Amino acid sequence: MSESRTVLLTGASGVVGRAVLQEAPGRPLRLISMTRPRGTALPADAGEQLAADLAEPRFGLDEDSYRALARDVDTVIHSAGLTEWGLPDERYRPVNVEGTRRVIEFAEVSGATVHFMSTAFVAALSAGAPHRLSETNVTTNYVRSKLRSEQLLRDSGLPHTVFRPTNLIGDSRTGWTSRGQIVQLMSDWISRGRAPFLPVHRGNRIDVVPQDLLAKAVLRCIELGDDSGEFWVTYGEEAMDMETAVEVCAKHAASLGRPLAPPPVTDPDTLDPEELRRLAPLARSYLSVLRDVSEVTRCCGGVLPTSMPSLRERYGVPHVVDTDAYARTLAYASAHLS
Ligand SMILES: NC(=O)c1ccc[n+]([C@@H]2O[C@H](COP(=O)([O-])OP(=O)(O)OC[C@H]3O[C@@H](n4cnc5c(N)ncnc54)[C@H](OP(=O)(O)O)[C@@H]3O)[C@@H](O)[C@H]2O)c1
Repeated sequence: MSESRTVLLTGASGVVGRAVLQEAPGRPLRLISMTRPRGTALPADAGEQLAADLAEPRFGLDEDSYRALARDVDTVIHSAGLTEWGLPDERYRPVNVEGTRRVIEFAEVSGATVHFMSTAFVAALSAGAPHRLSETNVTTNYVRSKLRSEQLLRDSGLPHTVFRPTNLIGDSRTGWTSRGQIVQLMSDWISRGRAPFLPVHRGNRIDVVPQDLLAKAVLRCIELGDDSGEFWVTYGEEAMDMETAVEVCAKHAASLGRPLAPPPVTDPDTLDPEELRRLAPLARSYLSVLRDVSEVTRCCGGVLPTSMPSLRERYGVPHVVDTDAYARTLAYASAHLS
């Protein structure tokens, strides 16, 4: 089924939104990009735009505009959210939870199917996780807000899908990203020989996915008219291990004439907090995040759940070797982000 759809894209100016906009041309859909009135502007050639705010009732639109939008739209890609980690629970509520509630209200009025961008990290808070994510983990409040959104969607009974990406990296072909992501920035920093050690649990997979694979999957899902399903946008068992990730960083550094002595990988559980406290602020911040992200993966048994095989089969997501994409992301990051 490939009839034309009218898609409201929330979070159009974000990393995922921009990747969706890049993948959309040529597909049978009309995209309406929601951007915040005083938020990040989209490039002038980004197509149809709507200034609206998820934190406001009716997205901050007047009644007539809201109804007109609801008449037009049959699909929502809900990608807007507060994605910064380490904030108190109440900071995530207005956009991540109440914003999703408003998207649900809108979908009830318009009859739209909602495709929600959640996170693979919810696996660490699932009942079946081998370890429980600690309350002090920098991602916990953010992840919980995404879980609440998923629950709201389930309870709504609306047709919807949930996409759960792991940390995203740049485009699989070019390394491009509209905004530097933690993985790009930290990997660039590691490649510059700045990391004294890497606090990562033994046996963990380092699971990062190029942003265009997520965009392709959700757009194809819409084209096919799928209105149910939960998809882990991760590599799972295919993901590289830490030693391989460091090798990619070392190769990248060597290509720039900066030989890198691979930093030792240390067990976060035996890490003396003093060791982190003694570091310069940037090193302390990056390595605390790395330790906490490692804890997320460890809670899932070292490997994130994955739907990659079915995403490839049903949605034509291309086979991309993660280490190749990671190398391109590093090249892009060192040329454009640092
Ligand atoms: N990037 C990743 O690695 C990753 C991994 C897993 C899951 N995800 C999920 O994927 C989704 C998109 O992530 P992303 O990386 O694109 O995030 P991002 O780059 O931080 O962008 C967030 C988007 O949400 C918009 N937004 C924030 N508050 C809003 C409001 N009140 N009303 C309307 N729009 C609002 C932002 O607008 P402004 O630009 O104006 O602030 C921006 O467009 C998120 O829900 C995130 O949880 C992302």
